[in-house]
Amino acid sequence: MSFPTQRPRRLRRTETMRRLVRETRLSPDDLIAPLFVCTGEGVEEAIPSMPGCSRLSVDRIVAECRELASVGVPGVILFGIPDRKDPEGTEAWAEAGPIPRALRALRSELPELSLWADVCLCEYTDHGHCGPVGEGPDGRVEVLNDRTLPSLARAALAYAAAGADVVAPSDMMDGRVGALRAALDEAGRSDVTIVSYAAKYASAFYGPFRDAAGSAPAFGDRRAYQMDPGNSDEAIREVAADLEQGADVVMVKPALAYLDVVYRVKQRFGVPVAAYNVSGEYSMIKAAAAEGWLDGTRAAMEALVSIRRAGADIILTYFAKDAARLLA
Ligand code: PBG
Repeated sequence: MSFPTQRPRRLRRTETMRRLVRETRLSPDDLIAPLFVCTGEGVEEAIPSMPGCSRLSVDRIVAECRELASVGVPGVILFGIPDRKDPEGTEAWAEAGPIPRALRALRSELPELSLWADVCLCEYTDHGHCGPVGEGPDGRVEVLNDRTLPSLARAALAYAAAGADVVAPSDMMDGRVGALRAALDEAGRSDVTIVSYAAKYASAFYGPFRDAAGSAPAFGDRRAYQMDPGNSDEAIREVAADLEQGADVVMVKPALAYLDVVYRVKQRFGVPVAAYNVSGEYSMIKAAAAEGWLDGTRAAMEALVSIRRAGADIILTYFAKDAARLLA
């Protein structure tokens, strides 16, 4: 069948018809809001490279989460900004650290909100790498994989104890999902969900986040542990490994430049897939909108629906509150 019998435009003529044939919809149910938690009280420090986002102290985090919950956002993922950094990143598992304090407050104030804790050391190490640095087997200086695993497990246990429903390792060390699952199970916390950043690329799109979290590496880059942007077969292997080690949800990060990876992962494994619409993807739209070069709201909603269309079930996005409001 072809033209003139077939006229695809017939289905696009009115909004009611477009609504009827729309294949993919965005809902607040799909969204997780990333939040930056700092120490202190009454702190709300704007992040210049992420317009509309701030570093918030625990009291402000609670207020922000109340708002998010009221517009239907089901959960948040917390990133900690500590006062103190050291080579090992020990503040990551401190009971009085920003994430545990925020989790305890949120757990009692908003029991229904899904609380996710990002598990990584780069915000807590003074060199900004995702684990302790030292000489590898061949003498090359690198992030020491097997020495990082117990620290990640310690952090995950601390967050679980403080009330996290989900721990989300974003460090890209080999074997970390298995290490977290074993540590949690051993502590009697088989209930805690693991969302692994399974296919996390070494991306320029994390730039604004590193400003926000003060986590840019002091030397070198993350290409020796995060994935090469040219690879997608490797993403399949990473996802398979994380599922085997006990990941409940697998994440692809960033989202927009990697929609083919989101698609492949969803098609291949049929498990819940999350995609992280990262800081750079957010800030590009914000910056262009501020210049009047595009309609920021429409661009954001189009970007989010494209991530769903590619196969993501869950989207982590700094647009969460605005998008949920618009969808209400
Ligand atoms: C920590 C981490 C990063 C992001 C999430 N977790 C930064 C990085 O890997 O450098 C980036 C998120 C964003 O850009 O929005 N490892």
